[in-house]
Amino acid sequence: MKKLNINFYAFLFIALGLLSFSCKSDKSGDESQEKDSVVMKTIKIEKKLYGTTPDGKTVDQYTLGNGSMEVDIITYGGIITSLRIPDKQGNVQDVVLGFDSLSEYIANNPYFGALIGRYGNRIANATFKLDGVDYKLVANNGPNHLHGGTKGFDKVVWTASEFENEDAFGIKLTYLSADGEEGYPGNLEVTVTYSLLQDNTLEVLYEAVTDKKTVVNLTQHTYFNLSADFSKPILDHEVSINADLYLPVDETLIPLGELASVEGTPFDFRASKKIGNEIDADNEQIKRGLGYDHCWVLNEQDQGMRSVATAYHAGSGRQLEVLSDEPGVQFYTGNFLDGTLTAKGGGTYAQRTGFCLETQHYPDSPNQEQFPSVVLEPGDKYSTKTAFKFTTK
Ligand code: BGC
Repeated sequence: MKKLNINFYAFLFIALGLLSFSCKSDKSGDESQEKDSVVMKTIKIEKKLYGTTPDGKTVDQYTLGNGSMEVDIITYGGIITSLRIPDKQGNVQDVVLGFDSLSEYIANNPYFGALIGRYGNRIANATFKLDGVDYKLVANNGPNHLHGGTKGFDKVVWTASEFENEDAFGIKLTYLSADGEEGYPGNLEVTVTYSLLQDNTLEVLYEAVTDKKTVVNLTQHTYFNLSADFSKPILDHEVSINADLYLPVDETLIPLGELASVEGTPFDFRASKKIGNEIDADNEQIKRGLGYDHCWVLNEQDQGMRSVATAYHAGSGRQLEVLSDEPGVQFYTGNFLDGTLTAKGGGTYAQRTGFCLETQHYPDSPNQEQFPSVVLEPGDKYSTKTAFKFTTK
């Protein structure tokens, strides 16, 4: 009996001990989870006045930070004015071209960092037909319409609101483009959501609805230079583009209509290669773009969001991966930069000191029936997503 008692108490002691241990470990699990989530989930959203437009509109700047990278976005043009990411040693530096003041963005911006709409890239002869009606757009690029016209979405002040949810946080920008603006039909209500994720991904979600049948093709026009040294050309960046085909263009950079194989051409980026390798090749298409200024027909178009391109800068170890659900990407290597614009912090932007990977539908789609449609009907929702993911290696 005595022995049993001892055994019973011993059992009770061990059982209680185990119970309390399991409670503790649960709790400490909770705590460490909480701790982890605090460590992993750093959320910074800061708003400040950036400037005022000549017509008296206030422009705000939002800074989003996750503890590892930061991005500044202004409500004028939804422009990403600065994007600060670590290199392989952990030095956080700005890797996007831009200016130091609002007045420079307003005066003469080659679309640095900007949201582009209603139509990314060119529409031939600034005209298209929809249901038998001819729409005349503003011709702002020779005979063609480029990036939405003389006052595209890059030159309007957007309304911003902050948001935060379980996975991400950021800002939502909205703009109502009135029926007839720059020649386009339909009141178009546009929302662009910039989300910063904890894994150094900046996501851009584009949404729009219309009250009249119209065409839409939105994109983002950030010029990257992953070296963070804007005096250096981007020719040493290694780029890959997941595309077997690209769109050859005429002298005014309008697609000829043919989907050409990249095989055996300077346009083959299926295996990663330096931008500079063939950028000056003796090739008619290269000459027309003064380098790369073409739309690649992305593979796996039925896969939704997938990896479409990468850019790696060995010196800094910075890598950008672009993911998108779009069928095309305009790879533009800053060929028209000519050293006349003042760079952030001094110096100027010489030719090819930035590159853009503008995910979108193909240029001139409203006039080229064989291309994926860019038509938006009332009652339907335009929705497309692109993500820029930054890592080091
Ligand atoms: C176009 C270029 C243009 C550049 C800046 C790119 O998207 O393809 O031709 O010069 O934007 O305007």
